[in-house]
Amino acid sequence: MGSPLCVSIFLVLSIFIQSSVHGQSLRLEPFGSSQAVETKKTFQDTKTRFLLFEGENDQGCQIRLHHPDTLQQCGFNSSLPLVMIIHGWSVDGLLENWIWQMVAALKSQLAQPVNVGLANWITLAQNHYTVAVRNTRLVGQEVAALLRWLEESVPFSRSNVHLIGYSLGAHVSGFAGSYIGGKHKIGRITGLDAAGPLFEGSPPSDRLSPDDANFVDAIHTFTRGHMGLSVGIKEPIAHYDFYPNGGSFQPGCHFLELYRHITKHGLNAITQTIKCSHERSVHLFIDSLLHTSMQSTAYLCSDMNSFSQGLCLSCKKGHCNTLGYHIRQEWHSKKSRRLFLVTRAQSPFRVYHYQFKMQFFNQIEKPVETTFTMSLLGTKEEMQKIPITLSEGIISNKTYSFLITLDMDIGELVMITLKQENSAVWTNVWNTVQTIIPWGREPLNSGLVLKNIRVKAGEIQQRITFCSENMDDPQLHPTQEKIFVRCDRNSKKLKQKTE
Ligand SMILES: *[C@@H]1O[C@H](CO)[C@@H](O)[C@H](O)[C@H]1NC(C)=O
Ligand SMILES: *[C@@H]1O[C@H](CO)[C@@H](O)[C@H](O)[C@H]1NC(C)=O
Repeated sequence: MGSPLCVSIFLVLSIFIQSSVHGQSLRLEPFGSSQAVETKKTFQDTKTRFLLFEGENDQGCQIRLHHPDTLQQCGFNSSLPLVMIIHGWSVDGLLENWIWQMVAALKSQLAQPVNVGLANWITLAQNHYTVAVRNTRLVGQEVAALLRWLEESVPFSRSNVHLIGYSLGAHVSGFAGSYIGGKHKIGRITGLDAAGPLFEGSPPSDRLSPDDANFVDAIHTFTRGHMGLSVGIKEPIAHYDFYPNGGSFQPGCHFLELYRHITKHGLNAITQTIKCSHERSVHLFIDSLLHTSMQSTAYLCSDMNSFSQGLCLSCKKGHCNTLGYHIRQEWHSKKSRRLFLVTRAQSPFRVYHYQFKMQFFNQIEKPVETTFTMSLLGTKEEMQKIPITLSEGIISNKTYSFLITLDMDIGELVMITLKQENSAVWTNVWNTVQTIIPWGREPLNSGLVLKNIRVKAGEIQQRITFCSENMDDPQLHPTQEKIFVRCDRNSKKLKQKTE
């Protein structure tokens, strides 16, 4: 499983590294005084083609610096915000399909209409990676020049601008934000899996960073690396940095799925598969536009390991936020917040996150290794047989916490059914025990007692404790279903009676 994936990552990284070797220097030139002079440079024309889209399926209309007539021709409405898409590095010199999907989504899905633009820098992007990296500064300057010119030409403010940059385009956005100068900043920048090589570890002025706009958000989807290099940047670069599924690799992007893709799409599938995790950032963002009622929530956490234990489902004090276009644009400190979430492998990506906490009492001396299946009954839906393996073995009095994600909204959780599956280890223990003490007809005894299950539902921020329905027999019996119901049910009823 792991090795074909490594091959695909290695391929991508080789392309990056190879092109780096062709370039002269690996490091980016820091901001010098010459750069600062260039900031003030007024462009007569730009190498970047700025396109504006009037309709959903429009091919774009070019607006040109110092040609105010092009603004009218292209239908620029200065009283509306401007959302500008900025693409990344290009191998084939073609604009990628996601651009048209994003344009269509922005044009058709927003309650408040916006001007939708594209900074097409494809001729500068189709180069050796290092050259393309150097060009990001020039393109950033050109974007900044365009925005300054817009402010001079029509009643328009940069605070109404939202740059959405993918891969190298994320850093282009950052440079635009720093080159624009003046007292005020660009409104918002979204970095979609901002490029890693030659940017990871560099100072904030040399990459996208929170000070490039009033609000910066970033989605990291392909940070799994090789020898310290990864396609997407790992470090936080925004006010809110989202790490879907940990950020290193995305579900549904596995190399094994390549075979299916090849039969469908031919050899093009290879680049598609390599791009899959990187481009997932884009599709998560588009998904947030397309499914307004299915927004994904992400939660502040130190790392994916803690997140997978369900330890980070809090929303207090801005500890959670919405992934994508509809993010809450508030931030509490200059420090980046790293947010985690699980997603599905395809759109709609949203899942529901639950933390389950169980404390067992183990009447057998040694740790019990076992597998459970858990069924959840909600007010709307039921989820059957979710497998749970506590791999370390169950030790008495230790609380086990884990994350369970559901694809659908089951409503409010009302009942949990837990069933201990037959495990070979346990059967051995049982056989030994049984030869010593014959328990007759009594059901098999696992030696495990579980009195309650504590659940926290991330999306609705609710904590519920479930108690064993049959308190007379708190033992878990292998292969028998044990039912847990809300502990507070009785107390609630009691309160109602006294009213
Ligand atoms: C520009 O947008 C505003 C606000 O939606 C609208 O009222 C106005 O008619 C638009 N102007 C043009 C020329 O479309
Ligand atoms: C488990 O904890 C309870 C109190 O929380 C204690 O009375 C009991 O001795 C503990 N059992 C073991 C096996 O540690």
